[in-house]
Amino acid sequence: MEINKYKEDYPFFKNNPEVIFFDNASTALKPKCVIEAVNHYYNDLCVNAHRGDYYLSYKVDVEIEKVRKDVAKFIDCEENEVAFSSGATESLNLIAEGYCKKILQKGDEILISELEHASNVLPWFKIAKETGAVIKYVPLENKRITVENFANAITPKTKVASFAYISNVLGYKIDAKKMCEIAHKHHIIFVLDGAQSTPHIPVSMKDLDCDFYAFSAHKLGGPTGVGVMYGKAKYLQDCDPLVLGGGMNKVIEKDGTYTVYNSVRKFEAGTPHIEGILGLGAIIKYIQKVGFAYIQKKEKELRDRALTALKKMKHIEVYNEDNEANTIAFNIKDVFAQDAASYFAKYNICLRAGQHCAKLTDGVMNTYASVRCSFYFYNTIEEVDKFIEVASKGSDFLDAYF
Ligand SMILES: Cc1ncc(COP(=O)(O)O)c(C=O)c1O
Repeated sequence: MEINKYKEDYPFFKNNPEVIFFDNASTALKPKCVIEAVNHYYNDLCVNAHRGDYYLSYKVDVEIEKVRKDVAKFIDCEENEVAFSSGATESLNLIAEGYCKKILQKGDEILISELEHASNVLPWFKIAKETGAVIKYVPLENKRITVENFANAITPKTKVASFAYISNVLGYKIDAKKMCEIAHKHHIIFVLDGAQSTPHIPVSMKDLDCDFYAFSAHKLGGPTGVGVMYGKAKYLQDCDPLVLGGGMNKVIEKDGTYTVYNSVRKFEAGTPHIEGILGLGAIIKYIQKVGFAYIQKKEKELRDRALTALKKMKHIEVYNEDNEANTIAFNIKDVFAQDAASYFAKYNICLRAGQHCAKLTDGVMNTYASVRCSFYFYNTIEEVDKFIEVASKGSDFLDAYF
């Protein structure tokens, strides 16, 4: 039996020994160090940030700012370019609403794709409606966004482009660096939704040169409800906060005037998700210790084994054989995706079925819904083999189910 040395870092497996968790694109499991970081806040600190004139409150501030520094190192940017948010969704809304809306005029174009998650579609729909801008979709090539199609979709009216670095349904990775370079030649703001890339590949803001980047802690194994918005300092200056309140203002006058901090703190109104931020710090350190080289090697091993087996099964249709990531999107032929996922669940295999919050993707895949199997480095070959065994019985679906 394969010993996955990382598995024992995850209390989940001890508490749920029968469960095979292949829904990692939805959220990742939490290692002990994250739980300890959250507990450390509740056990040892417990007090608010940015407020107290006493040692413990100061310590909370120091620990939060340490995480900001660690995040900056992790994604290779400056500390004053990292704002904490509640996750990728809030970050993308903030980027759209707080900055991009201000530079859009009637008739301007926002480029996205049909592969995007709702969080990278709806904020753009909203500001397009409010400004009179138009949403344009990059035509896909074999379900992919290509550099060429992106370049051809640009017009003099294109002002903003926003794409997932890695798609959450099909796992396709875009050539973000090249696309960003092209975007900048046309003075286009280039936004990357990093929800699915940050847990699996090293990212460098300096190298990619994107203008904004968003990700969630929980997809790496950090706490839920916390994430990051990266923005180039020159754009953050002009980016308005979405939420106003304590901890981000400098002066408030009775006549209704107020000023806010000229730093990322202006995006962090109210009491921060302190334990979440400390947990984010812990997962970043943990992921760095595991290393992306190992993460990618392991995910490839698991995915290749599952894919090779699925491809031999006549009753299975795979939609993304050629992807670069950790996901397999498939269906059991003639079986509705949710029914298939329930069938796997009967064997304690957790998969995701449906449209995966990317409702424009069904036209791309020619199916209304699919089943998604997504791996992370703590999964094992034995788990994949069990998945294969269950999938192989799916041809006689109803017999297998009842
Ligand atoms: C590509 C992509 N973007 C954005 C999100 C939204 O992330 P969150 O729900 O953590 O805000 C997800 C979550 O599944 C995602 O996969």
